[in-house]
Parts: sequence; structure tokens; C-alpha cells
Amino acid sequence: MSVGSLRTRRFLLASLLVAVGLAAEPASARSESIDERVEALLARMSLEEKAGQLNLVSLEPDFDPESVRRGEVGGVINFSNQHLASNIDGIARASRLGIPLLVTLDIVHGYRTIFPLPLGLASSFDPDLVRRAAAAQGRESVAVGVNWTFSPMADVARDLRWGRVVEGLGEDPWLTSRLTAAQVEGFRDGGLASTLKHFAGYSAVLGGRDYDVTFVPQSELYDTHLPPFAAGIRSGADAVMTALTALNGVPTTADPGLMGRILRRELGFRGVLIADWQAVGSLIKHGVAKDGPEAVRKAFAAGVDMDMTSGLYVKHLPDEVRAGRIGQAAIDQAVRRVLRLKFGLGLFDRPVLDPATAEAKLLRPETRAVAREAARASFVLLKNDGAALPIDKDRVKRIALVGPFADSQWDQMGPHEGNGQVGDVISIRSALADRARFEGLSLDYAQACDRDCAASDGFAEAVAKAREADLVVAVVGEGRDRSGEGNSRSMLAMPGLQQELIKALAETGKPVVLLVFGGRPVELQGAIDRVQAAMMIWIPGTEGGPALAETLFGDVAPSGRMPVSWPRSVGQMPLTYDRRPGGRPHEPGARWTLGYNDQTIFPLFPFGYGLSYTRFEHGQPEVTTPKLGVGDRYEAVLEVRAPVTNTGDRPGRTIAQLYLNQPVAGRSRPLRLLKGAVPVSLAPGETKTATFRVPSRDLGYHEPDGTLVVERGAYRAYVGADSDATRFVEFEVETGWRGPPGSNEASRAP
Ligand code: NOJ
Repeated sequence: MSVGSLRTRRFLLASLLVAVGLAAEPASARSESIDERVEALLARMSLEEKAGQLNLVSLEPDFDPESVRRGEVGGVINFSNQHLASNIDGIARASRLGIPLLVTLDIVHGYRTIFPLPLGLASSFDPDLVRRAAAAQGRESVAVGVNWTFSPMADVARDLRWGRVVEGLGEDPWLTSRLTAAQVEGFRDGGLASTLKHFAGYSAVLGGRDYDVTFVPQSELYDTHLPPFAAGIRSGADAVMTALTALNGVPTTADPGLMGRILRRELGFRGVLIADWQAVGSLIKHGVAKDGPEAVRKAFAAGVDMDMTSGLYVKHLPDEVRAGRIGQAAIDQAVRRVLRLKFGLGLFDRPVLDPATAEAKLLRPETRAVAREAARASFVLLKNDGAALPIDKDRVKRIALVGPFADSQWDQMGPHEGNGQVGDVISIRSALADRARFEGLSLDYAQACDRDCAASDGFAEAVAKAREADLVVAVVGEGRDRSGEGNSRSMLAMPGLQQELIKALAETGKPVVLLVFGGRPVELQGAIDRVQAAMMIWIPGTEGGPALAETLFGDVAPSGRMPVSWPRSVGQMPLTYDRRPGGRPHEPGARWTLGYNDQTIFPLFPFGYGLSYTRFEHGQPEVTTPKLGVGDRYEAVLEVRAPVTNTGDRPGRTIAQLYLNQPVAGRSRPLRLLKGAVPVSLAPGETKTATFRVPSRDLGYHEPDGTLVVERGAYRAYVGADSDATRFVEFEVETGWRGPPGSNEASRAP
């Protein structure tokens, strides 16, 4: 549901809402523990008020503020500014029990200051930065009364046609796990409750079609899809959201095995489980419930605590409990979780937000600074022939800036922009124009075509400007409306005539730098060979323009790494680096081996790939723990070291990456699995050692019932610049280990 489209209506509604600020509980209550306060409150609640706490409503035209006063609402979504949030919470606090509201919003990459979208930020491979970015986003959100975000999205990208890959952290379970945990921690630092979504397997939608069904083998679920959720839960995620999809035939919102056995028992999740948007009602559409009451019974039996916007819990739960079809204890338990979240956030102990204080806390210089740092860290340099970048001010006196995304503040905000305002965004054009002026260069701009690039009328002007220039910077790719929820694509080509635009620019003979804009990699075959340099800039947010100017002019060197494999063509989907050898492993050009007859199986750029303005050499890795006794010791750690040298003439930062391989195992294992990423900053000529410490349990795989197996035997650790790394070292697990489902989580519990 788009936030922006509802904004005007919300402002109108806001004027109808009455702000009343009353303390929900006497001050004396504050010395009690949260559990005591929850129990005391629960004891005072009617069945209807309990059902109300499990009801999350959206600000829609038919929204009735009196329902909040009557205690029928536990949380709200899309009350997306300080006035709306404060007014509605004030009404809740004036209800009989005065229970404050959970005020929720999808804070995916910022509230007002817009950060690069999560997939872009994942290119940093930097949990500390991701944590600081989430904290800054959290602080802005809390300033306007939002106390719970529906993020991070912990779904591991499996198919780039799926528009929602932009919300996630890439195709790799290990990287996604680390960055998901960092987001959870960051949101908490910023005062915001977090939600891991969408449990589980949503990213496996057939054909990449959003909302289609998913079929995920159990071992694959455990190996690939669950680890980021487990990591987020270990980091203290407050909530988990169901997926809108049916997994292996059962809608997740009605799946007691998934929610009860796996989420609650094996992963040890104790927070609030919320259904995705109208997912309780959708059980009827899925064909597993005949009517509302049955949908409620099924979702509740699966352990879903809160109903988002279908209104069915509040409508039917009391009668279902009275009729004995749902137990009193079960509803009490769900309400307890919601109240614990509210107490834990301190909502009962703080007054209703004063909206007048909010504005000054938005777009603060320190928030913009993190957004700029994040944007810089997200850029992935894909090609740089002849050191076309950074811009050489002795050689380049005139720049032609062209393309549909060179001056589009709207696109720069991305598909999940919180409450971002177009006017806040510094476009690429404006930042580059400022920088060019400062450097004494001239910059000519021509849009060439709009984001759909259906017509070539503007190409002549762009080509004319290119002819006059010493360097052409073309910002091409996908608009923000091509990715995000409900925006899956059947093609990964750049929309419209952009390939032709690039060809026309290249034919001028001038060096062309391609800046690839958008929420996912696009097909670059053709274009990539015509240009001197190419850089993925994702959708860089409010500070995207200055971040890019700083990078193009060499104040900083790009250091991002691809968090997904970059396909050559859409027909390669799904394409991830963690493939298995197969019984007829791929041999280029050999017919009877795994592959296509019209396309290589390899990506254009592998997972983990990214260049810098300097060059790095990754030396031979060494293992300091060549024999590992895992046995009953989960503390056993594999340690691998590898030298990295900056062999170029500029400083730079690389990410040394460790990939695991088990050549012979009880089941065919992936050729490579990322298990470590160490950032290394080096001066020209400098060498440092990257040290990887891999917990032994990370060496294992799961059997279909969730049993974790670390087999004894020989393993390899490849270390290098990306998932194509060829240098490896061998080590041996002397005593293996098998643990029951969830034992990995229990063993790591703090
Ligand atoms: C539906 C999306 O699937 C979910 O991710 C989001 O949090 C909700 N809508 C609320 O906007």
C-alpha cells in the first residue's frame, strides 16, 4: 500500500482527530516489572478489549477514530506524520484503559531522510554502517511518533524478477543474516521496534511473480531462507511478519508447523507474530478458509498474534472464544506479547508526542551525513577501462551528463520512501553541476528521454552535447516504479530505448561512463562493451547526488560489492552463486553438461564483485586450524588468514571474502558458500592480513527435518575478491556434529 497516495487524505482526516494526552497508568506502577504490569492490565481487560489489542488498522477513508476510543485498536499503520500519529495515540490514551498505540510504518530505507535502498546498502558488506543507518532512520521515525517499523526484510533474493529484492540484503544467507541483525540492532538503537519479514520463503515466488506461491524443500528452507530470521531473532527482533504466500501448499499465515514448530520452538522467537496486510482475510482467497471466522481460527491456531488490516480478529475473536473454539489462554498469550512490546518500548511511560517538536529532528545534518556515507558505500564499480574514473581534471574540461535518471529527484527516493519529500533530494545533476563549477569545468545536461524511454526525440540533443564533451556520464537503468512490492518484471532489459541511447552516445567516440540506476541489475550486454566505465549506483536517496560527485571526482573510491549475481539475460533466472555441481558439471561449450546452448551459465558479474580506483591482489590463504574438532564444542572456530596487497597507486578499501566448499559430503553441497567478509583499507603498496574466524556450526548443512549436520572430512576455504575466488586452503573436521532442529540457535543464545 503506497504511503504517498494516502497522504492527502490523511491530512484531511487529521483535522477530525482530537488529541488528548492522558497518562495510561499511575506513576506508582512504574516500579513494577513489565510482566507484572502486563498481568495487572490484562486482568482489567474485557474480551473485546483484548481482541482490540490484536487489531492493527490502516488510515483509510472509512477509518473511524471512535473505534480507537472504544479500545478496538491495538496499533495503526500509515499514520505517517507527527500530527496524525500524535492525534491517534492521544485518542487511544483517552480510551477506558488508556493503552497507547503501536504506530507502525514500513521504514525500509528512511523516513524523511532517504537512504539507499537496502539492496544497495548491502553492497557495503558493512554491518556497522547498516546498523548506524538503521539507527538514524529509527531516530527520525520515533521523532514523528512511529514506534514500530515493518522491516528489515530478511528474505534472501533468489530471482531478480521479483520486485521486492530491493527491500532485502541480497542473495546470500550469510550476508543477509549479518546485515539483518545489524538492522535490528540499529532500529533498536534508534528507539524503534523491528519486524523480520516475511516468514518464510516469500522470495521463492514462482517466476519471480510477486504474491505467487512458493515451493521450497525443507532442507533449502533451513539452509537458505531461515538463517537471516534466526540471526534477527538472536539480535532481539521484536516481531515477525507472515508472508502473503503459500509455502508448499499452505499459506504461511495458517501454518502451525512453520510458526509453532519452526519459528517459536526451533528459532526461539518470543515476540509478536503479525499477519501481513490482510493476510488473515486472504486465507479465504487462498482457498483454505470458507469464511472470516474460519480464517481467524486458522490464523490463530498457527500462532498469529496480530491481524493487520483485515479486521477479522476484532470482529470474530470474542465470539470464537465465547463459543470455546479458541481458548481464553491463547488470546491472553497473544495480548501479553503485544502489551509486552508496548511496555518494552516505554510507550506507557512517555507522554503523547508533541508534534511541534518533530520537524526539527528531521533531515538533521548528522542524519544526512550517514545517508551520504551509506550512498557512497553502496556504489559498485563494474568496469573502469583506462582509468576512466575518477574524472581526470587535467583531461576532462567539459562533461555531458545525460539520461533519464540524471536529474530525477523522485526516482532517487526509491520505492519505499517513508515520508520522503522530493524537494529534499539532491539530484545527480545538481550535485555534479556544483562540483563542476567548483572545479572550473563545464557541465552540459540533456535528459535524452524519460524513465520509460519510449521515444528517441531527445537523443539528438544528448548526442550533440556528447560530441562537445570530453567525457559523457550517462545515468540509465530502471525508475523507482519498476521495483518494490507488486513490481515484478518479466524482463530485465533497461526499459525502452536506453540501449540505443548508449549506442548513439558511444558512437560519438567520446569516453562514456555508465551509471546504472535502479532497484536491481539490468541486462547490460551490448552496452557494457561500448562504454569505458560502469558503476551500479542503485537508488541512492536524498544524498545520492553529492555522494556520487564525491566518488566520480575521486574524493573517495568506490568499495561496494555486488550482493547479488549480475545476470547476462533474464533467461538465466534464477541465478545465484551458491549453485551445486550437478552430475554433469558445466563445461563451456560441451553439450552434455549442465548449461544452456545459447547462453553461458555464468553471470556478467559474480556475487561479491566490485572494483576500486586501485587494484588489489589477494594472496594464498593459510589455515591456522587445519584440524578442527567440532564434536560437542560449538565454540570450535576455523581460522583462516590471507594477505591482501594494494598493487595500484591510490588508496582503497576491498572486502576479502571467504567461501566454503565441502568437496565430498553426505549430500551435494554448493560449490561456494560465503562465510566471511573482512574489509581491508590499504595505502598504495601496502599489504595487510585478513583474518577470518568461522564458527564451526557455520560449516554445516540441514537435513529436511532441520537437523544441523557438520560432517567430518575434508573442506576447502576459498579466499579472494569475489565468489569466483580460486585460491584455497584445505582443512579437516576431525569429529563431526549433529544437532536436533534449533540446536544451533540454542547453542548460540546469549
Ligand atoms: C504488505 C507488505 O507485504 C509488507 O511487507 C508491508 O509491511 C505491509 N504491506 C504494510 O505496508
